[in-house]
Amino acid sequence: MDWDQVWIELNIATMDPARPQAYGAIYDAAMAIKDGQIVWLGPRSELPAFDVMATPVYRGNGNWLTPGLIDAHTHLIFGGNRANEFELRLQGASYEDIANAGGGILATVNATRRATEAELFDSGRKRLNALAKEGITTVEIKSGYGLDMDTELKMLRVARELGRLHHVDVVTTFLGAHALPPEFEGRADDYINWIIEQVLPAITAENLADAVDVFCEKIAFTLPQTESILRAAKAVGLDIKLHAEQLSHMGSAELAAKLEASSVDHIEYLDEPGVQALAHSGTCATLLPGAFYFLRETQLPPIDLLRQYQVPMVLASDFNPGSSPLCSTLLMLNMGCTLFRLTPEEALAGVTRNAAKALAISDRVGIIKEGMQADFCLWDIVSPAELAYSFGQQPLVHVVKAGRLIHQ
Ligand code: NIG
Ligand code: FE
Repeated sequence: MDWDQVWIELNIATMDPARPQAYGAIYDAAMAIKDGQIVWLGPRSELPAFDVMATPVYRGNGNWLTPGLIDAHTHLIFGGNRANEFELRLQGASYEDIANAGGGILATVNATRRATEAELFDSGRKRLNALAKEGITTVEIKSGYGLDMDTELKMLRVARELGRLHHVDVVTTFLGAHALPPEFEGRADDYINWIIEQVLPAITAENLADAVDVFCEKIAFTLPQTESILRAAKAVGLDIKLHAEQLSHMGSAELAAKLEASSVDHIEYLDEPGVQALAHSGTCATLLPGAFYFLRETQLPPIDLLRQYQVPMVLASDFNPGSSPLCSTLLMLNMGCTLFRLTPEEALAGVTRNAAKALAISDRVGIIKEGMQADFCLWDIVSPAELAYSFGQQPLVHVVKAGRLIHQ
């Protein structure tokens, strides 16, 4: 066999649902890589003969290998921070109070408009490095702190540039409809039309976005406004997704399902008809326990219903300066289990297989399987549940991205 590298002495949590064991596990496994792809995997006892003199062999010391982790929902490019609002909330103000008083997302919009492209790149790179240190190999990054032409494009260019220069792959999402900018005060419909007629074409002309997202909420945009942006996005071939049912029940999940969105995110107030609609359309449910925790929400997303209807559950950091200043995807594995009662296996699927599905990249990544890109992590753990069980011990040993060893 003419391979580039072989891995032995490890267990593999393939996360492949076609395999019968929990985590799609293969014990005492071996895996071969060629041209950045997984070309063979199975029990070591079945490993075909290969040229041991010419092929680097990596030994896993009995550790666990998983797919590279994917954080499918972040807002990691932004200027400033909102520690002052954290203090206000500790004194009793609510997230909505602060937003209605002109703070919240608009506070970050002001800071992001002032920041140069170089400054945004620099702070974004530091945050991306923090995620990469935990084994993240793909991340989604949203715009939405510009809300004007220049700054929305600036954010998306920075995100694309990070993807070009960093080993972590970046999927970009245009979130122009995140909040109503002051320039359009009292004219939300005009703002939506402007996004559709001016901003979206500028973004597609430069190929700056892979998807379009809308914050559909009482403090943000209505169902009809959401629908018109998402339809315009679909018409130009972009993926669509939604910040849905976060602070109140709007029926936005049904809308997303009707439009065949790839995911609905937050969904604390999702109800059973909404879950059924998602199951029917194959839309993923993205759970964001960081925002739930940081805003001290009490309404839990309907996990049992999502399970019952077999809606793919994604777990993401929602890393942003207002509702989830938590730059850690591993922490979300722990919170997904402690706060939302996911099983550790569901949590891991939420940052691998299902996260890939939500980003429409599951043909390449998210599962350890022949023909997939060789994106994987080796962890110094005895069982995969430890990834969700404990936090802060940095169990990551190696990261391989498209067959290239990144972290030792
Ligand atoms: O996903 N819900 C809307 N957007 C972000 C929060 C953004 C902010 O507060 O800056 C979220 O929670
Ligand atoms: Fe978000």
